This record gives sequence, structure tokens and C-alpha cells, in this order.
Amino acid sequence: MIIRPYEPKDKENVRFVCLNSEGPCKSSARGINFSLAVYCDYYIEKEPENCFVAADENDKAVGYIICTENFDVFKGRFVSEYYPKIKKWEYRRRKSALRSIVPHEKYKEEYPAHLHIDVLPEYQRMGLGHKMTDVLLEHLKKKGVKGIMLTTWIKNEKGRGFYDKYGFTLLEETKNCAVYGLKL
Ligand SMILES: CC(C)(COP(=O)(O)OP(=O)(O)OC[C@H]1O[C@@H](n2cnc3c(N)ncnc32)[C@H](O)[C@@H]1OP(=O)(O)O)[C@@H](O)C(=O)NCCC(=O)NCCS
Repeated sequence: MIIRPYEPKDKENVRFVCLNSEGPCKSSARGINFSLAVYCDYYIEKEPENCFVAADENDKAVGYIICTENFDVFKGRFVSEYYPKIKKWEYRRRKSALRSIVPHEKYKEEYPAHLHIDVLPEYQRMGLGHKMTDVLLEHLKKKGVKGIMLTTWIKNEKGRGFYDKYGFTLLEETKNCAVYGLKL
């Protein structure tokens, strides 16, 4: 397994990992559209230079860490180009997409970057998450980014265990989500 920069050829595998990291995807077409628009496509399409993958012996991406280095830049492009992909009549999903970035706005001065990380189930707990995070953080430090944050579902035991173990600081818990940050 190697950790390497994201390449355009990884796109479909990265999207597959996004939808299947918690087991075979059971989402509806609308759920898939939502997950890709909110958690995946912005990063690989707009900031591919801030994305890394874990690739197997056939150079196939089985895990990724994807990131924006600046929340304000992200927000402008997300709201104008990705948010509209969730149809207007899908009120619940639209609200949820905007709610998902509220903590990022709140913490953006100290933690302007944010990330998403996922590994296919059969490759979890092999150290790939740690290795990918090491690579991303080194990359961001070289760029002078001062902090990175993320949010996760409050009951996500795997994710929360991982962030605690890596050394992220728990910034806040809301009704549904836990917010973590790391100064660089
Ligand atoms: C969270 C995740 C990215 C971690 O990547 P990873 O490559 O498995 O992590 P590492 O092997 O580097 O680190 C292992 C640590 O992560 C946590 N972890 C990873 N897989 C776990 C699992 N199946 N059950 C419980 N904890 C798990 C534990 O803290 C573990 O340490 P331990 O083995 O000593 O208990 C990965 O497990 C994953 O994709 N999970 C499903 C999707 C998800 O929750 N993504 C994060 C969304 S915010």
C-alpha cells in the first residue's frame, strides 16, 4: 500500500470509497447525490492538490483524505456550484448541507482547513488513516496553513476513536455532531 497524491484517474474509486466506507452502500439515488455533492466532489474537483489516496498493489485507491485549505474559498464555491446540485424541493437535504458547514464557519480563524477521510472496510485498522493524515498535515504545514478541523456524527465510534487517537482536540459536541481541530 502506498500513500500518494490524488490523480484524476482516481475519481471513480474515490467516489466509491465515499459511498462504501461503512459497508455496501444502501443509499437511494438522492442520498448518493447528496453524499457526493457535500462530502466528496468539491474537494477532488476544486482542490485536487490537497487530496491524497491510499492505493493498493494495482494502484487502485482504497482510501482517501480530501481537504480544503481555506473555508471562505470553499464556502463561496460550494454554495454556488455544489449546493444547487441538491434539488430545491429536497428541503431536508438542502438544510442539512448548509448545517454541515456551520461549525467550519465558527472555527475558521484558527482552523481554516477542513478534511474528510474514508477507508474501505477491508482496509481499515491497518494504519492507512494515520499515514494519510501525516502526509496531508505535512503538506498543509509547508503551505503555511495554521489549523485543520472536521466534523463527524456524534455516534461515529470508528471516526471519533481515530481522531482521539491521532491527537485531534475535541472542540465541541452539538446534538448531532462532534467537532475536532488540530493546530499545525
Ligand atoms: C475512521 C477511519 C478513516 C480510520 O482509518 P483507519 O485506516 O481505519 O485508521 P488507522 O488504522 O490509522 O487507525 C486505527 C484507529 O482508528 C479507529 N478505528 C479504525 N477502524 C475502527 C473500527 N473498525 N472499529 C473501531 N475503531 C476503529 C481506532 O481508534 C483505531 O485504533 P485501534 O485499532 O488501536 O483501536 C476508517 O476507519 C473509516 O473509514 N471508517 C468509516 C468511515 C468514517 O467513519 N470516516 C470518518 C468520517 S468523519
